[in-house]
Amino acid sequence: MDLGLTGKVAVITGGASGMGACVGRMFAEEGARVVLADIQAEKGATVASDLQARGYAAHFVETNVSVREQVDGLFNKTLAEYGQIDILCNIAGPGAHTGQLDTTEEEYDRQLDGHLRGVFHCIQGILPHMMERKSGKIISMGSFTAYGVLANIPAYCAAFGGIIAYSKSVARFAAPHNINVNTVSPGNIYTPMTANWLDQPGQLEAFEAQIPIRRVGTPEDVAAIYLFLASEWARHLVGVDINVSGGQLIA
Ligand SMILES: NC(=O)c1ccc[n+]([C@@H]2O[C@H](COP(=O)([O-])OP(=O)(O)OC[C@H]3O[C@@H](n4cnc5c(N)ncnc54)[C@H](O)[C@@H]3O)[C@@H](O)[C@H]2O)c1
Repeated sequence: MDLGLTGKVAVITGGASGMGACVGRMFAEEGARVVLADIQAEKGATVASDLQARGYAAHFVETNVSVREQVDGLFNKTLAEYGQIDILCNIAGPGAHTGQLDTTEEEYDRQLDGHLRGVFHCIQGILPHMMERKSGKIISMGSFTAYGVLANIPAYCAAFGGIIAYSKSVARFAAPHNINVNTVSPGNIYTPMTANWLDQPGQLEAFEAQIPIRRVGTPEDVAAIYLFLASEWARHLVGVDINVSGGQLIA
């Protein structure tokens, strides 16, 4: 199945690590030109240069998505290089560890700024360009944590609830301009964010036993859905949240 991504320009936030780096690699392998954005400059530059060494068009732009000027800079640099942006993948965001009673104001702000505000900056920043071109795909990271499956990390859960609700609102606005806006909500995926606890002795096996499909997801499981949503095969999907959790969430 040809996904039709050859030559498309995709901006991928969180592209230095985990699912963002995997999305970058799989989009490049499908022929897309990828621009990776992240606060981790050294790691992001390495991911981009590894892709270049394999002959792919890839760039890294150091970007904190919580800062609007940096997001504007990311889009301006991408447009100066390629003249167009076809796909925006919002994947950046910080991990969380605090509970209901010990989540501080600072942690609340870190979660809402790193996830929801970042997605808001990126979507609002790219919409005029995509509206002018009457074409675009916007795919943002959601999470199964938005659906009441955890009793802890409340600010993280709230941020993802916000991203999914915000995306549905933008989806309705953008669809008449031939722009598809959707989200992808993974369950637990093995990435640098989750490796510190999944790598503890016996943890992975114990965890897998609780997941209906009996495995922890991989970045590829999620990147495949990003690829599909970025393709024309998904042209009739508007405001959808795709649950990629192996049954951790069955709604
Ligand atoms: N791993 C999971 O189980 C899981 C499940 C559901 C959702 N998520 C979400 O998916 C996204 C990717 O997570 P991952 O598991 O690949 O983790 P990861 O830590 O490997 O990747 C996250 C990346 O986001 C970057 N980042 C954080 N804040 C940023 C900011 N303000 N501006 C730019 N970049 C920033 C980090 O530097 C990092 O490279 C995150 O939003 C995470 O919350 C993860």
